Amino acid sequence: MTGAAGAPVTGTGRAWWRDAVVYEVYLRSFADSDDDGVGDLGGLRSRLPYLADLGVDALWITPWYPSPMADGGYDVADYCDIDPRFGTLDDADALLAEAHALGLRLIVDLVANHTSEQHPWFRAALAAGPGSPERDRYFFRNGRAGGAEPPNDWISAFGGPAWSRVREADGSPGQWYLHLFAPQQPDLDWTHPGVREDFDAVLRFWFDRGVDGIRVDAAPAMAKVTGLPDAGHAPGALFESRTWVGNPHWDVDEVHDILRRWRRIGDSYGGDRLFVTEAVVNGPERLSRYVRPDEMHTSFNFDYLTCPWDARSLRAVIDASLAALEPVGAPATWVLSSHDETRHATRFGRARTGAATMGFDTGAPSADRELGLRRARAAALLTLALPGSAYLYQGEELGLPEVEDLPEEALQDPTWERSGRTARGRDGCRVPLPWRGERPPFGFTEDGVAPWLPQPPGWATMTVAAQEGDPASTLSLYRAALQLRRRLPELAGAPLTWVDSGDDVLALDRGPAFRCVVNLSGEPLDVTAHGRVLVASGPCDGRLQPDTAAWFATGGT
Ligand code: NOJ
Repeated sequence: MTGAAGAPVTGTGRAWWRDAVVYEVYLRSFADSDDDGVGDLGGLRSRLPYLADLGVDALWITPWYPSPMADGGYDVADYCDIDPRFGTLDDADALLAEAHALGLRLIVDLVANHTSEQHPWFRAALAAGPGSPERDRYFFRNGRAGGAEPPNDWISAFGGPAWSRVREADGSPGQWYLHLFAPQQPDLDWTHPGVREDFDAVLRFWFDRGVDGIRVDAAPAMAKVTGLPDAGHAPGALFESRTWVGNPHWDVDEVHDILRRWRRIGDSYGGDRLFVTEAVVNGPERLSRYVRPDEMHTSFNFDYLTCPWDARSLRAVIDASLAALEPVGAPATWVLSSHDETRHATRFGRARTGAATMGFDTGAPSADRELGLRRARAAALLTLALPGSAYLYQGEELGLPEVEDLPEEALQDPTWERSGRTARGRDGCRVPLPWRGERPPFGFTEDGVAPWLPQPPGWATMTVAAQEGDPASTLSLYRAALQLRRRLPELAGAPLTWVDSGDDVLALDRGPAFRCVVNLSGEPLDVTAHGRVLVASGPCDGRLQPDTAAWFATGGT
């Protein structure tokens, strides 16, 4: 059954995004169909049946627009086309139709805080010179100290100052422009009416093509305090936006005007188009502002993503997330990994299990792989048992670890250079997926072609083909859990109730017949009283081993 523009319809009357499982496709690394070593739309189309079988509800596709790829496509040169490395608009239309036919919804990624330096607006601004209306679309300012110093103390998320100086047409050092990310990503000035109107058209362009949702990149960056006052950053400060209060370039209240404007556009398409924001802000209350009834529908939960593997911390984050969202009526989201963070199968095997954002990961690289994977599998069952929507990052269903030993010459993330080569950045979680075979490229691309990032030879045992027939594999665990999640009505809608089980065990009920138990205690746990095991992340013969989890039927299901 399909609805507007061929989108699948659930028939439950409950908005699909309230408990959808969304799979993040990092397009460059998913599957390559034209043998250039870079993933593309053809590769994704050929693997749609895999994703439908996995049991996810929707796909979020990272930016597919024409881009110089200074930041993996988050530097957009044209918002209404597809990069030729990924395919064409026809391929995007075909993908959409095929995904819908398989019951999968599609979410595109909108990068509106900044463009690429190659975008025609920025090129025109550079050419037109100081004081021109073209420069008003961005933040061009004269420097301090006679022009030699940046206009203020703002910092880039990738390290270093958030300002770069241009050479004017006559070759002289000129104005500075703002970039909260890489210098190739100049920030747009969202007070400019033309910027607002042009992005309205971009939204309509993709909604008209039938996309089911939009992920809003770097939402808190889109408004700045008038006058661009200093933020008071200490020298060498990192971009730790989760700790900022009253910052003039992040989470500024005017951002919500933009989001409300977009919500009205989305709603004009019939009411079930989704907006999900990326908003790394200071705590659940600030986050809840992004999902007020007339703003976005959902927002990624970075407090959960960065939470250490510790029962008390996890319970506190889950409670705080649900409590903050309750008054605004928005569902929670739960996410463990993404293309921006160290993969959780590695993180959870380290001494410091919490995540650092944007690749500034100082965790010791010597992870205990076996421990990390055991915890990652347990974390998957916890995540999929929580009320709300869950985001999976491609490859986590295979238990893939972070690739920590990429050769330095292979690193592409701007963080590497911007940090003075002290933080390796995010390439280690972006290594192309292993599909089949005994050696790289593991079916990601044609044999003999080098993927854009090298894959570890040891991934032979982690390919989709290697895991498919193995009931104990991580892929089988995800499939089983996702199937159950669809089948059990409690997992769509029933509230969470904690079961008293001591400080180091998480036990939660969803309705009268479903229970999830996660053992973080370090000791085997007697679980005979909990009911019949539906699925477990490790051996469970009446005792749940440390760092494993299980779902139980506690009633008659
Ligand atoms: C968040 C994206 O997830 C990340 O990959 C990107 O570098 C920044 N926003 C800037 O667009």
